[in-house]
Amino acid sequence: MSLTELSARADKADLEIDQLKDLFSKISSATAAQKSAAGNEKELLQLQEENRILKEKLKSYENGEASPAKTSDESGQGEDEVNPWDVKASSEKGVDYEKLIIKFGSSAIDSILISRLESVIKRPAHHLIKRGIFFSHRDLALILDQVEKGNKFFLYTGRGPSSEAMHLGHLIPFMFTKWLQDVFDVPLVIQLTDDEKFLWKDLKMDECKRLGWENVKDIIALGFDINKTFIFADLTFMGQCPSFYQNIIKIQKCVTYNQVKGIFGFDDSSPIGKIGFPAVQAAPSFSSSFPFIFGDKTKVPCLIPCAIDQDPYFRMTRDVAPRLGYMKPALLHSSFFPALQGAQTKMSASDPNSSIFLTDTPKQIKTKINKYAFSGGQATVEEHKEKGGNCEIDISYQYLRFFLEDDEKLEKIRADYSSGELLSGFLKKELIDVLTPMVLQHQEKRKLVTDQLIQEFMTPRKLNF
Ligand code: TYM
Repeated sequence: MSLTELSARADKADLEIDQLKDLFSKISSATAAQKSAAGNEKELLQLQEENRILKEKLKSYENGEASPAKTSDESGQGEDEVNPWDVKASSEKGVDYEKLIIKFGSSAIDSILISRLESVIKRPAHHLIKRGIFFSHRDLALILDQVEKGNKFFLYTGRGPSSEAMHLGHLIPFMFTKWLQDVFDVPLVIQLTDDEKFLWKDLKMDECKRLGWENVKDIIALGFDINKTFIFADLTFMGQCPSFYQNIIKIQKCVTYNQVKGIFGFDDSSPIGKIGFPAVQAAPSFSSSFPFIFGDKTKVPCLIPCAIDQDPYFRMTRDVAPRLGYMKPALLHSSFFPALQGAQTKMSASDPNSSIFLTDTPKQIKTKINKYAFSGGQATVEEHKEKGGNCEIDISYQYLRFFLEDDEKLEKIRADYSSGELLSGFLKKELIDVLTPMVLQHQEKRKLVTDQLIQEFMTPRKLNF
């Protein structure tokens, strides 16, 4: 080989080496990139998951489902807690319902809606609506539209049987539902969530069923029309009606764990029964859960009267409904009948001294009111006469708003107590005089409810409407 050939070969080899070097560096940077990509993949997945959760939260906010149940003022202080298991207000005046409406994304019941309701039903609205005790709603106007078109809707409400005796607070949605049933002449389904109480409370299953049976007596005693009312307890009805269970499963498929965590505050240690339960309370909102009542009509509109603590269940239901081709249930929300000790908590069956029960004797009612009913009066008679009492925090006055139907009398009591003319003792006596005959009358009606009557109300059957 000549020298020229050798040098040409060497040049070519140099070139090839350079090319190979180039190639090696490309390969190694590609490998490095691949390695770091592999490392980053984990991070990427984490980011994607975080993004998904944020998107779900955003959606919850848009649907008014955010932060399970807290309302707070701008400074972040004074949080009210309102959820199906707990109600605590930061102010002695009770829950700030205006803020709750904004937080939950419902609508206020205003005078225009009340006038429309009155013109549709052609009679005055119930005092619980006129006095703002039922203060919030979802889609009530759509129900009124249906009524004006001559279409029927159905009512749905319920009770979680955690105590043998129901208290006066529990009466509020049921009394109001009875009025709605009478006024609109529509069918009503009443759910007893004995399964919910088994999951949440330290109770045996048979005890939950027994408490449900006892509570049904109180519900029937309120005078619901047997031809238009079906009462059912979940632990029994689930085995009687495949359509009910099928709707529950359809709902459960649409709601993620993240969503129920956001709405109800469940966490990783919650029993899975609790996580799945909201679908059980949601399912009766759909007429297809009751084929023996509605036949194949899957789109009969539903109106749910309840206190606002139950709203989280139905925000979830309303979110799911269109995805299943069902109608969103409409709602009417009441404020809370406060505990005897003051409006910062609602009346609760688990604290006997906070509540007046439907089983209380006249003596117990009198003692509880005189001993515990929080007074909005001043410290001394002189001071009271000078400054007047505060109706906003006086529990006797607040209870009279719920149960004293006579508007004029209530207004006179308000004016005279606020001016200092009436003392707290008078309000307490007035309240005892209103509640005692009401509770006694209820007890008499309850005695007439036989096991056979309960059985009839709880038999799946056609209703007349
Ligand atoms: P429960 O048994 O806690 O309450 C029964 C009904 O009474 C309302 N309520 C009150 N209303 C005014 N003042 C109070 N202090 C007060 N305490 C309770 C509740 O909002 C409810 O309307 N999970 C439900 C049972 C249920 C249900 C439903 C309720 C199943 N399906 C549909 C309403 C609508 C429960 O445990 O409710």
